[in-house]
Amino acid sequence: MTERDFISQPYSKPVESGTVAWESPSNIALVKYWGKRENQIPENPSVSFTLKNCKTITSLTFSKKESELDFDFEVYLDGEKKDGFKPKIQTFFDRILEYLAFLKNYCFKIETSNTFPHSSGIASSASGISALALCLMSIEKQLNPEIPKEFFNRKASFLARLGSGSACRSIEGGIMVWGKTSAVEGSSDLFAIKYPYKVHENFRSYQDTILLVDKGEKQVSSTVGHNLMHNHPFAKERFRQANQNLEDLKPVLESGDLDTFNRLMEMEALSLHAMMMTSKPYFILMKPNTFKIIRKIWDFKDSTKLPIGFTLDAGANVHVLYPKHQGKTILEFIKNELVAYCENGHYICDEIGFGANQLF
Ligand code: DP6
Repeated sequence: MTERDFISQPYSKPVESGTVAWESPSNIALVKYWGKRENQIPENPSVSFTLKNCKTITSLTFSKKESELDFDFEVYLDGEKKDGFKPKIQTFFDRILEYLAFLKNYCFKIETSNTFPHSSGIASSASGISALALCLMSIEKQLNPEIPKEFFNRKASFLARLGSGSACRSIEGGIMVWGKTSAVEGSSDLFAIKYPYKVHENFRSYQDTILLVDKGEKQVSSTVGHNLMHNHPFAKERFRQANQNLEDLKPVLESGDLDTFNRLMEMEALSLHAMMMTSKPYFILMKPNTFKIIRKIWDFKDSTKLPIGFTLDAGANVHVLYPKHQGKTILEFIKNELVAYCENGHYICDEIGFGANQLF
């Protein structure tokens, strides 16, 4: 498929006004997206687990307007008007206008809330942008009821990508792939697809306990971070490594070999941070407590031989991943030994989920 396939078809049904709503989850990358080209095209393919509990709930109320000159929208978070969110949504609307012919014909009220605290250091862009993309697709579906389900999800992922790359992996679950790779048939730079191969039952209900080491605002926005991969001395090798890690992950997902799974996942997290530490300008997003947690996880793994591993996003928080059947012992360890390193002892228990749901 190409970009042209996502341009709106002529609408068959007039719609004056209405409200649509979706809840959409966050996701955690195993193979990381870090580096992009123009139009939100990733430099390397990425793979993620869709999450279940960390999600954004968005309702979109729309009514037809007279002038088609400009976008007309308002944003509310937890019932409070948030003009600070407008520039990001304006940029999103600018990027997707070409693909959603109705966007300037309506005024919109966007009402959104997250199941996780706003200042938790958890990025809400993947869940927030994917929820909004799905709401917009629901309007397009009212205008053109013939849109098939598969195309609906694909276009929602395509639109979400234009708002925030990782958001394209939140539409469905449990394991998603975004970015063209010969290792995964049907993969594309334009949208994410469900991982199409056999997955071992070890990964069923895989647990992700998110340790909130630092709940502050991000020091470096991901867009700035991605751009630092342009002219990065190690960029070429990093993109090659991500491709290789994705290829290596395939047999692991099939066999359920959790040792290799954890090694690949941790290597990806540390490579991502190594890129940040060696860019120009360089920066360190991990905090002393991030390192203490990693050390404790490795010591616990050495002494118990239990299948525990971690990954990191572009921040100090640690995602601790483990299979559900070992969940009780590992969660005990997390509570007894790791939670002390979290800001105000805060952590979130999540697990692999299956994507977004339409509310109305
Ligand atoms: C480190 O999707 O937030 O979480 O496309 O600029 O919005 P933009 O970036 P974003 O980047 C996420 C980076 C990451 C790794 C990942 O999720 O793959």
